[in-house]
Amino acid sequence: MIINGKELADKIITQSKSEAIKLKKYGIYPKFAVIIVGDEDPASKTYVSNKRKACEKAEINSEEYPLPSTVSQEKIIEIIERLNADKTVSGILVQLPLPPHLNSKIICERISPLKDVDAFTSVNVGKLIQGTATLLPCTPAGIIEIFKHENINLEGKHCVVLGRSDIVGKPTAALLLQQNATVTVCHSKTKNITQHCKKADVLISAVGKRNFVNSEMVKKGAVIIDVGINKDEKGKLCGDVDFKSVEPLCSYITPVPGGVGPLTVAMLIKNTVTASRIQNERIIKE
Ligand code: GUN
Repeated sequence: MIINGKELADKIITQSKSEAIKLKKYGIYPKFAVIIVGDEDPASKTYVSNKRKACEKAEINSEEYPLPSTVSQEKIIEIIERLNADKTVSGILVQLPLPPHLNSKIICERISPLKDVDAFTSVNVGKLIQGTATLLPCTPAGIIEIFKHENINLEGKHCVVLGRSDIVGKPTAALLLQQNATVTVCHSKTKNITQHCKKADVLISAVGKRNFVNSEMVKKGAVIIDVGINKDEKGKLCGDVDFKSVEPLCSYITPVPGGVGPLTVAMLIKNTVTASRIQNERIIKE
C-alpha cells in the first residue's frame, strides 16, 4: 500500500485550523515567523514557500524575515531575541542550511523553547528524550502520525533507522522507543547495513542518497518510510528507496514526493498552534 502523505497532511492542517479558530475566540492569533538567510538554496526557497502556503490553508498568520547571505550571527540573534519578546509571534524557525560562517546550533539555541516549532533547542531535545515534550520535531512526529493513521502498532517491532542526524535519525529513534519498538540506528560507519535492514519490520531511511535502499535489503511485508530528498538522473525529486523494486515486497511504503514531506510541513503548523496555546494558557483558563 502506497501511503498518501498529502492527504494525511491536509487532514492535520484542517485539524490545526479548527484549533486555531478556538484560540481566535479568546483573541489569540497564532503566528509563524521564519528567518531565511541568502537566496542561493533553491530547496530552502521551496520549503519556505510550502510553509507559507500551509499557514494560509490553516488560516494562521506567517511572517518571513529574508536576510542577506552576508548577515552576521549577532544580527540573526538580535532578530530572534526580538521575536522571542514579541507576544504576537507563536512559532520561530530558522531555515537551514545556513551559510558556512554561521553556526546553526548556536543560532537555533537562542530561540525560546516555547516558540521553538522545529524542536531543535536543547530544552526541547531533552524533553523529547524524557518523553515530556509538547513540541515534537516535525519530520519524526510526522512519521509517527503515519503509523497512527495506518493503525501500525510499533510495540515489539524491530525498527531500523538509517541515518543519525539531529533533525531526523536521532529524534525518530527516540520517538520509536517511546512506542515500545526495538530500535537499531545505522549510519555511515555501520558494518553490514544490508543484514540489519533485512531484519527490519519497519525501515526508515534518512540517508540522502538515491537508490540507497534496494530490494536485497528489505524483508517481505516490511513497512518502508522514505525520508530522503534527492534528485534522480533526470533531475526529478526522488527518495532514498529504489521504489520500483522495493514496492512489490513491502506492506506499506511512502513515496517521494507526496510521502513524509507534506507531513513535516503539517506538523510545523500543528506545533505553531500548540505553541500559541501553551503561551496563552492563562488567558484560555480564565
Ligand atoms: N531545512 C531542511 N529541513 C529543515 C527543517 O526541518 N527545519 C529547518 N529549520 N530547516 C530545514
